[in-house]
Amino acid sequence: MRILGIETSCDETAAAVVEDGSRILSSVVASQLDTHGKYGGVVPELASREHLRAIVPVVRLALEQARSSFDDLSAIAVTEGPGLVGSLLVGITYAKSICFARGLPLIGVNHIEGHIHAVLLESAGKIELPALALVVSGGHTHLFEIREGLSYRLLGKTRDDAAGEAYDKVAKLLGFSYPGGPIIDQLAPYGDPTAVKFTLARMKGNALDFSFSGLKTAVLRWVEQHDMAAEIAARRKLSNASLDDWLRFTPRPTLDLLASFQQTVINELLRRSASCVTEIDARALIVSGGVACNAGLRSAAGDARLPCPVYFPSPGLSTDNAAMIAAAAFPKLHRREFANFTLRAQANLALA
Ligand code: KG4
Ligand code: ZN
Repeated sequence: MRILGIETSCDETAAAVVEDGSRILSSVVASQLDTHGKYGGVVPELASREHLRAIVPVVRLALEQARSSFDDLSAIAVTEGPGLVGSLLVGITYAKSICFARGLPLIGVNHIEGHIHAVLLESAGKIELPALALVVSGGHTHLFEIREGLSYRLLGKTRDDAAGEAYDKVAKLLGFSYPGGPIIDQLAPYGDPTAVKFTLARMKGNALDFSFSGLKTAVLRWVEQHDMAAEIAARRKLSNASLDDWLRFTPRPTLDLLASFQQTVINELLRRSASCVTEIDARALIVSGGVACNAGLRSAAGDARLPCPVYFPSPGLSTDNAAMIAAAAFPKLHRREFANFTLRAQANLALA
């Protein structure tokens, strides 16, 4: 059974064909980085326009690479939320139109469930349940219990910025380009992670919730107290910079700041995850979303001596893609959980 997945929740237009829930026949991702990079973040109106431009060629390429046509499909799956409404609408409207024209079933998928399936997709049934999922991206920092039958229970989430958002904002503040996560990740090993001590606010209420806005403000205070205007201005002028360029324009104290910031984020993510693993007696920890690409997080998770195995998606499936959407739709196809043509774009769609 082949499902065409379509993902347009943020700034990537993606389409993929996945067979039987786990065999990726194609996965095409058209990034809008060149459009948004100069603004230091995603501009929603521009994102919708870019999706409109890209959706038809991206789907066509995904079908071509999968040596498939619409006639070979069992269903079309599309991200219904959470995300930018204007962006979601492009994918949803396109998916509805094709389903209507071809008489295909339509399946709505929650973007966060997609990120979880990016890991399940590659694990070939190895992951035992209950599992803990840490979904950590530019829009989400959520901890879910995954139970038998793929039902979800929310255990904790960020109260303000998502971890990826904190990376992007700190990078922007320091004159690095968007998205900041990969740049900070590459530069962090050149600094001393113990050089700057950040203390994070204690959580009132749910101790498993996250908060990253205080950390971002602490970085801002640090910048204000140090004479950094010239180096920040110099970095802002760089375009298409390589790692060597960034290193040349980033003095040691700033590398120490980046390393300390990254270490603090990683410690927070792993500390809360470890508490949840114990609380639900998880048999596996799944880490997914764009921040799951982070090399520091991957190695720290391996060193953390958690009482269960940790699974990350391969980097191409960590950031937004449509293979994860098609994979998440496969169990829904079995259960015949189809959407009708009233399927809406939902900016704040919750998973649990
Ligand atoms: O999952 P994703 O592609 O989109 C959302 O659903 O948000 O995640 C994008 C986020 C951005 O904030 C980006 O800076 C972050 O993931 N990111 C990283 C790394 N690669 C991407 N953050 C830290 N380290 C990385 N290596
Ligand atoms: Zn995402």
